[in-house]
Amino acid sequence: MKPKVFITRAIPEAGIDLLCPIADADIWSDELPPPRESLLQKVKGVDGLLTLLTDKIDSQVMDAAGASLKVISQMAVGYDNIDVAAATARKIPVGHTPGVLTETTADFTWALLMSAARRIVEGDHYTRDGKWKTWMPTLLLGPDVHGATLGIIGLGRIGQAVAKRAKGFDMRVIYHSAHRHPEIEKELGVEYVPLDSLYAESDFISIHTPLNDSTYHLINNAALAKMKPSAILINTARGGVIDPDALYRALRDKQIAYAALDVTEPEPIPLESPLLTLNNIIIAPHIASASIQTRNKMATMAAENLIAGLKGEKLPHRVADSR
Ligand code: GLV
Repeated sequence: MKPKVFITRAIPEAGIDLLCPIADADIWSDELPPPRESLLQKVKGVDGLLTLLTDKIDSQVMDAAGASLKVISQMAVGYDNIDVAAATARKIPVGHTPGVLTETTADFTWALLMSAARRIVEGDHYTRDGKWKTWMPTLLLGPDVHGATLGIIGLGRIGQAVAKRAKGFDMRVIYHSAHRHPEIEKELGVEYVPLDSLYAESDFISIHTPLNDSTYHLINNAALAKMKPSAILINTARGGVIDPDALYRALRDKQIAYAALDVTEPEPIPLESPLLTLNNIIIAPHIASASIQTRNKMATMAAENLIAGLKGEKLPHRVADSR
C-alpha cells in the first residue's frame, strides 16, 4: 500500500507528478487554506504532510496525524508557521525549500524598491484616472536609486542576492545581521554597521530576516523614529517583523517617506487596515517568489523532501533546527 500524504493546497504539477507514483495524495483543492477543523480531520493517519506558510502546523496537528506521521515538508523557505521543536520532539523531520527562490525573491525586492522610489504604482493610477494632461517638471518626483545607500537587515541568501544587485546601481550597501559575514563583506563590498547606524544612514532599508522572537516587531516606533524622513522601507521577509500600527503612524506623519511590502501582519491585510488609506505605500499579496520557474522548483523540492521522509531517508533540505 502506498503511503498517505495530505497536501494542503494545489501545488504546481511538477511536485504532484513526482509524488503521485509513490504516494496516495489527498490534495486540498480550495483556493483558501483548509480551516483548522478540516486540517485536523484531513491529517488523521497520514504518513506525510506537504504544507504551505498559511498552515499553522503545531503539536495539535501532529497529534491529530498520530504516530504514522513521518515527515512535514513545507513549500517555502520560511517555516515560522511550523512548531519545529514539537516536530523534533516527535522525531518528525521538517523540510523546506531554500536556495531555489533566492534570486526570484531578490528580483522582486528590487521591483518593489524601484516602484516605491519612482512611484510607478501612483503613476499608473494617475494615468488611469485621466489625470495625465501634460508633461510636468514636478510630477511624481522620487529619489534617485543609483548612488544611494541601501541598508539590508539580515544578510542571508536573499539579503546577499539583493546586495549583489545594488552594486549595479553604484550604491553603498550596509547591513546588519545576527552574525557578521567577513568573507561576504569582502566579496560583495558590503559594510557591517550597528542597527541604529543602519536606520540613520540608509536611504532604502530592506528586510531579509526570518521571523522569530528576536525579530518580531523589530521595526517599531523607536526604529522608525531613527530612520531618515526620506527613507523607503521594503519588506519581502515576514509581515511580523514590522509593527503595522507604528508603520501606519510613521507613513502618515511622513516620519519616513514610503514603504513597499510583500508581506503583512496579518495576511491577507484586512481591507479596513489604515495602511490601505495611505498613498505612500505599495502592498503586494506575498508574491516575491512567484515566478513560474521558481514555483515549479519549490514544488519539486518540497516533493523530494516529502518522498525522502516517507522512505525514512535524510531530507535533502531539512530546516536547520529540525531533527
Ligand atoms: C515565502 O515567503 C517563503 O518563505 O518561501
